[in-house]
Amino acid sequence: MPEESTPRRERKRTVQQMVVVGIIATAIGIAIGLTIHWFPPADSTQADKIDTLWDVLIIATVPVFVLVTVIVCFAVIEFRMRPGEENLDGPPIHGNTRLEVIWTAIPAILIVGLVTYAYVVMRDIEQAPAAGNERVVTVTGQQFTWTFAYNEGGKRFSTAQLYLPAGKSVKFDVKSKDVIHDFWVPDFRMKIDAVPGITTHYRITPKTNAIGDHDIVCAELCGLGHAYMRQTAHVLSKPDFQAWVTKMTRQPAATGGGGGGGAQAGTVDAKALFTQGNPDTSATACGTCHTLADAGTTATTGPDLDKVLKGKDAAFIKQSILDPNKVIAPGYQADIMPTNFGDTLSPQQVDALVQYLSKVTNK
Ligand code: CUA
Repeated sequence: MPEESTPRRERKRTVQQMVVVGIIATAIGIAIGLTIHWFPPADSTQADKIDTLWDVLIIATVPVFVLVTVIVCFAVIEFRMRPGEENLDGPPIHGNTRLEVIWTAIPAILIVGLVTYAYVVMRDIEQAPAAGNERVVTVTGQQFTWTFAYNEGGKRFSTAQLYLPAGKSVKFDVKSKDVIHDFWVPDFRMKIDAVPGITTHYRITPKTNAIGDHDIVCAELCGLGHAYMRQTAHVLSKPDFQAWVTKMTRQPAATGGGGGGGAQAGTVDAKALFTQGNPDTSATACGTCHTLADAGTTATTGPDLDKVLKGKDAAFIKQSILDPNKVIAPGYQADIMPTNFGDTLSPQQVDALVQYLSKVTNK
C-alpha cells in the first residue's frame, strides 16, 4: 500500500486549515455585516424591503469575498518560491474544463438569483396602490432648493418643505429647472435624479409610526450650494395633515381675489416675516442669511441689506427677492439665495417685505 508523500499530506493539511479559516471568517463577516446599522431608521414601508435586500446581499457576498481572499492567501503561501526554485517554471497547465465550467456556472447562478430577487423587490416597492388611493406631489429641484407642489382636491399650492400624511402612499413627480439634482429622503430609502426636461417618479408610503421630521437631501453634486440643498419632510398624522391642507388652501381665499389689496398687505407683519419666514410654506427667513439692523439680524451668508439696499427703489428690492440672480452684490455668488420665494410667499407678503425693506434701509 503506497503511503501518501509528505508534501501531499502537508498540502492537504493546509487546505483543511484554509477551509476552517474561511468558514470562521465568513461567519464573522456576516455577523458584522448584519450587526452594523448601515441605514437611518426605516420610515417608509418600502424601506423594510430594501433593508432586507441589503441583508441578503451581505449574506450572499461575504462568502464570495472570503473565498477569493482565502484562495489568494492560500496560493501565496502554498506556491511561494522556495530557496533553490528561483529559475524554475511552474508545471505547464493547459486548462481544466471541469473547473472552468464550475467557476462559470456557480457565479452565473448566483447572479441570476440575486438579479431576480432584486427585480421582485423593485416591482414590489414600485407597485401602485389601488386607484385613487394616492396623492401626487410634484418635486422641483433647482439651484439650490426644492419646491413641492400639491394638488389637494383641485386646489393647488406650493411649499418649500414637504408635508405628508403617515400611512398614505405618495407618488413624487420629480423635475428640475436647471441642472441634475437627486431627490432623496434617506429615512424613506428611495431616491431618484431630477433631470431637466423629463419627469422622473417614485412612490413611498410613510409608516404610521414615522410621524416627525425627516431630512431631504440633494444627492447629486449640482453646484456650489449643493450642500445647502437640504430641506425637511414632515410626516403628520392624517388629521394634522388635513388641518395643514385646509390652512394652505384657505390662504389664497384670504389673501387673493383682487379687491382690497392694500388692506391685506397691512395685515402682514413684514418684520416677523423677515425674521421667521413663512411658517405656512416654510419659506426661509431672510434673517437667516442677511443682516438687517431694524430686524436685529446679523447673519453674513448673504449681503448686508442695510448696505446693499440703501438708495434702491421698491422695484429693485422686489426683483432681488423674486429673482435674486439678476443682480449679485459684489463679493457674493449667484445661485445661493433660493429662487422660489415667488412660490412660497404670497404676493401680499412679498409686497409687505418690499415696503418694509424699502422703509428701514432708506431712513
Ligand atoms: Cu441639487 Cu445637489
